[in-house]
Amino acid sequence: MTSPLRTCVFPCAGFGTRFFPATKVIPKEMLPLVDKPILQYGIEEARDSGLNKLVIVTSKGKDTILDHFDRTSELERSLRERGKNDLLAEVDVVSRMVDLISVRQKEALGLGHAVLTAKDAVGREPFAVLLPDDVILAEEACLLQMRRVFEETGRPVIALMEVAPEETSRYGIVAGEMVGNRKFKISDMVEKPKAKAPSRYAIIGRYILPPEVFAILERTERGAGGEIQLTDALRELVKQGDFYGYVFDGRRYDAGEKLGYLKATVDYALRHPQLGAEFRAYLESVLETAAVS
Ligand code: UTP
Repeated sequence: MTSPLRTCVFPCAGFGTRFFPATKVIPKEMLPLVDKPILQYGIEEARDSGLNKLVIVTSKGKDTILDHFDRTSELERSLRERGKNDLLAEVDVVSRMVDLISVRQKEALGLGHAVLTAKDAVGREPFAVLLPDDVILAEEACLLQMRRVFEETGRPVIALMEVAPEETSRYGIVAGEMVGNRKFKISDMVEKPKAKAPSRYAIIGRYILPPEVFAILERTERGAGGEIQLTDALRELVKQGDFYGYVFDGRRYDAGEKLGYLKATVDYALRHPQLGAEFRAYLESVLETAAVS
């Protein structure tokens, strides 16, 4: 993998059933985390990691995702006429943020299939995949941390997170060994291990992959849940050569389910430059009242 890394694929074509009924009509990627839609955090992470060719995989009913990053001339004109320059600047920043390439996944056949849908848009280059509902709060963008391992090794890299032993059965878990600071050499992956897990490192939604993964996905049969699983293709890739995990520095939230979303909302709100202090005082008063009653 010697070509430069510049592309990031955002699979956004799932049904979001874990967040029903909120996501029946509104895509989960568009739910707000404080004052920005979830996807915008992912787009900012990709941009901060030096990726500028962004491919969104959408499905029917998810056009608002693209609208959010488009120009909105009428809104801009109205804000300009009313002298609302601060709001105008905020709207402008989002629409100038990125140029997006959109591809449609016509049937929700799984994450592996969603990535395969982006094949022509990606071309024959290495690329990153970012699952928007895995939101990561970090000093340094998670994909940028991973990118260093990719540039040093030229090999695939996925993000890992250490989990408690009792939680391993909820994640894809890697087998292998730690070979450097936060750098893990992967020998296999096990989806939701029921018996003893091979490690405590869980796979989360950030990947840097070679274009060869598309050929593997094309011959990957439907696996768990009748879906084409990305993990099945990654296991195949592990057999073909060195494959790394990177235990990223930061905190990850599963904003695609209700409790994870609430935790992310609280943590992001507490860090918000304008709202943080007042929100903290409010939370403290709520907790005090709860402790008394
Ligand atoms: P998830 O399983 O987290 O998303 O898929 P989901 O299917 O939307 O959610 P639930 O389980 O029904 O609540 C991981 C990622 O893969 C995308 C999702 O949009 C999410 O970003 N995905 C999943 C697709 O793009 N296409 C698919 O067919 C399946």
